[in-house]
Amino acid sequence: MKTLVIIPTYNERESLPVQLAGVRKYAPDVDVLVVDDNSPDGTGEWADAQAGADAHVHVLHRAGKAGLGAAYRAGFAWGLERDYEILVEMDADGSHQARQLPDLLAKAGEWDLVIGSRWIPGGTVVNWPRSRKMLSVWANRYVRVALGIPVKDATAGFRAYTAATLRAIDLDGVDSQGYGFQVDMTLRAIREGATVTEVPIEFVERAQGVSKMSGSIVREAFLKVFLWGLARPFRRGGVKKSRPRTRE
Ligand code: GDD
Ligand code: MN
Repeated sequence: MKTLVIIPTYNERESLPVQLAGVRKYAPDVDVLVVDDNSPDGTGEWADAQAGADAHVHVLHRAGKAGLGAAYRAGFAWGLERDYEILVEMDADGSHQARQLPDLLAKAGEWDLVIGSRWIPGGTVVNWPRSRKMLSVWANRYVRVALGIPVKDATAGFRAYTAATLRAIDLDGVDSQGYGFQVDMTLRAIREGATVTEVPIEFVERAQGVSKMSGSIVREAFLKVFLWGLARPFRRGGVKKSRPRTRE
């Protein structure tokens, strides 16, 4: 299936070359779209040079830093216009390992949404302080209870959507960033009746550069999940009806 891996970047000049080489190696047939928010460190220019040398590589330049969610929405629109059938989200910093991309792709298409999960058996996180691990574990428990969705890692950012699923979602209506964006998209996909599966991944904390996630992004996610949870009783029927179907 025609597949696009979308990699959002902001100041990933050191990480992106390694990640891009990995994707080209482990999934040589897929195309890659780097969505750069005018990184001051020259990530966008480096990506342009790659695109000039490799027909599988594309770059979408945006005017300035507008957040992870906005970058993915632009990347999805780019890919849908060009009729990609599978659209993958992947970080530039090496946390999502290219060697595990084939594990996601193997189930993509068969399932509407495949999530690379840290919090199912076989999944793990390497080099995270206990505090960050606990934040993610408890955030995911909170999401599960508040929203009533069976997904174990709803904040995960390594995932593959079918084009049909993304087309069914009102992407312009998604205004969340960071972790909230991932939860928002998961909930919307499930409400559209998407089938969801999780595959275990080893998430490795970045070795280069710095995280762009901030306290305000965490707060946004907590607040939004709370509000979505409150709105839930009015929608219960809809959510239930469209619970992910489990397949053998
Ligand atoms: N274009 C663009 N614009 N890219 C961005 C922006 C932005 O404003 N902010 C972050 N990115 C890119 C980074 O350059 C990186 O490639 C990717 O998005 C993830 O950013 P990080 O800063 O490394 O995020 P993280 O490691 O804290 O969060 C990751 O794990 C979370 C779950 O723990 C992401 O995968 C999240 O989506 C996920 O929820
Ligand atoms: Mn990261």
